[in-house]
Amino acid sequence: MLIKRKTDLTYADVTPKERAMGRRNFLMGLLATTTIVAGWKKLPGLLAGPGTGSVPGKLNGVVKSPYTTSGEKITPETDVTTYNNYYEFGTDKGDPSKNAKNFQTSPWTVSVEGEVTKPRKFTMDEILKLAPLEERIYRHRCVEAWSIVVPWIGYSLSTILNQVQPTPKAKYVAFESYYEPKQMPLGGEAGIALPYLEGLRLDEAMNPLALLCVGMYGETLPNQDGAPVRMVIPWKYGFKSIKSIVKIRLVKDQPQTTWNMYTGFNGQPEYGFYANVNPKVDHPRWSQAKERRLGEFLKRPTLMFNGYSDQVASLYSGMDLRKNY
Ligand code: MTE
Repeated sequence: MLIKRKTDLTYADVTPKERAMGRRNFLMGLLATTTIVAGWKKLPGLLAGPGTGSVPGKLNGVVKSPYTTSGEKITPETDVTTYNNYYEFGTDKGDPSKNAKNFQTSPWTVSVEGEVTKPRKFTMDEILKLAPLEERIYRHRCVEAWSIVVPWIGYSLSTILNQVQPTPKAKYVAFESYYEPKQMPLGGEAGIALPYLEGLRLDEAMNPLALLCVGMYGETLPNQDGAPVRMVIPWKYGFKSIKSIVKIRLVKDQPQTTWNMYTGFNGQPEYGFYANVNPKVDHPRWSQAKERRLGEFLKRPTLMFNGYSDQVASLYSGMDLRKNY
C-alpha cells in the first residue's frame, strides 16, 4: 500500500474511483497509480476527466475537534447514506444513493466572492489543505422530524471566509449548489427552485459550529451526502445544510433561498430564513416537538437549537423566534 504524506494528498487521491469506474477510467486510475509512484505532482488534472463518478476514500490526518458533541450514539453509516434528501437526485429518501452514483465531483472549485477584498476560486485540493481537518460529531435534525448523529469531517466555515476578507458591507452569506440537469435529470421534477440556494447571516456563518464539511465516518463525502463539499449547521434544520457547494457569495441583503421561495400545498411559504431547530414552533403541517432518530423506534423530544443553545442562543437575543422562525 502506498502511504503519502498528508501534504502530498490531492482530492483525487482520497477519492479512489476504480470501484465506480468503467474500463476507460479504470485504465486512467492505473496510470495515475503509476504516476504517484513516479512522484509526479500533476495528479489532480489527470484524474479529473469527464464522466468520473466518485466513491468515498479515506481522509488522512483528521484531528479531534473541540466542537464535537459527546454522549451521543452515532447513527449507523448505512442509515446516513441511504436515507437522504438531495432533490437534484430524486425526492424519495432512497433516490439519492441510487441516482448520484456517477455524479462527477472532480474537478471541483468553490468560488468565494461578493463583498470581499480578495475574491477567489478554491480547488478541492486547496480546500482540503486550508486548515487541519477536524472530526466533529454533531446532531443533525431534519425539518421532517427525523435526526441523525454523524462524525462529520471539515473545519469552521469562518476559515475560508477569513481567507477572502469580507468587507464591512458583507452582512449575509449566500450559498449555491451545483446544478446541471444532464447529470441531475430528476431535478426538473423536484418541485423546488434549482440550483439549490441557502443563506446565513454573517455572524451565524462565522460561528465556529458552522462546519464546511468534506467528509464523514473517516472518508470523503459520498455523493448522496453532498460530495465533495457541503455545509453542516447543527443548530438549524437540515435543509440549511446545503450540499455540493460551488459558490459562496458575501452580500449586503438577506439572500433568497430555495425553501423560502417554496410555497406548500396552500400556496403559503412554509420555511423561514433562520430555520433554527425549535420544538415550540410547529411546521404548518406537523409538530416539531419530537423527532425519530434513524435506526431507533421510539421518538425523542427535540431540543431547542438542537441542543446547541449554549453556543448559539446569543446570536438571536432580542429576536422573536416565532416570527423569525
Ligand atoms: N442540498 C441540496 N443541494 N439539495 C437538497 O435537496 N436537501 C437538504 C440538505 N441539503 C438538499 C441539500 C435537506 S432537506 C436536508 S434534511 C439535508 O440536506 C439532508 O442531508 P443528508 O442527506 O446528508 O442527511
